[in-house]
Amino acid sequence: MSGPILIFDSGVGGLSVVAPMRQRLPDAALVYACDNAMLPYGTRPDAWLVERILAVCEAAVSVSGCSVLVVACNTASTLALDALRARLAVPVVGTVPAIKPAAVLSRSRHIGLLATSATVSRPYTDRLIEAFAAGCRVTRVAADPLVREAERVLAGDAPDPDVIRAVTAPLWQQQDLDTVVLGCTHFPLLKERISAAAPRTIQLVDSSDAIAKRTVQVMGVAALRRERDRCLATGPDARLVRAVAAFDFAEPQLLTVG
Ligand code: DGL
Repeated sequence: MSGPILIFDSGVGGLSVVAPMRQRLPDAALVYACDNAMLPYGTRPDAWLVERILAVCEAAVSVSGCSVLVVACNTASTLALDALRARLAVPVVGTVPAIKPAAVLSRSRHIGLLATSATVSRPYTDRLIEAFAAGCRVTRVAADPLVREAERVLAGDAPDPDVIRAVTAPLWQQQDLDTVVLGCTHFPLLKERISAAAPRTIQLVDSSDAIAKRTVQVMGVAALRRERDRCLATGPDARLVRAVAAFDFAEPQLLTVG
């Protein structure tokens, strides 16, 4: 069955996968769905999050008629991918921190993981590190304020360099660290600013192109874009209108979650 590609995140973070997705699939229709009413996810309890993610994704899959669901959220993917795959009839592509490519790229064998508090402490993340970065030291830094910062910047507010500096400081204190995983999809939206906060050249690695590549592999036939790509949001938010318009999505439509 042909349907659009549904991209889901708590807020604007999933927009960071839109460019690689359009690069690989320029004619495919996209639907962007976000749970802006419940943002942020990164500080919420796991049991609540699983139920919420299932409910929002189920509603968005049904309203969009999508052929594939892309969970463009590390916090959701490291917790709820199995539950989503069990519940939904469409293929589900997840997003997990780019530990594997970072471990390959790092020359000093010391990498940083910048993610939400939920993602940095998940057993899924422990397993990822064990499997792909066993020979590396990994410094994990919870960076929840950067989620809000990305939301603010995309809504048109001036960035606050102090927030980025303060949150990333524990990484730069590690003298030999040379590579940082942006393990939250909100963070590539601040990539230049994070780079600017670093006192030396650091490689910043994210999963966005890998997600687009994986989507091409698992999806069937994508519906062709006939009109502007759609956006679904769980809450009304004038600031979101501006953020999604900058990525060429139509004005958000309200998504009712059962
Ligand atoms: N963008 C999400 C992620 O990749 C989470 C942001 C949040 O809601 O805390 O983890």
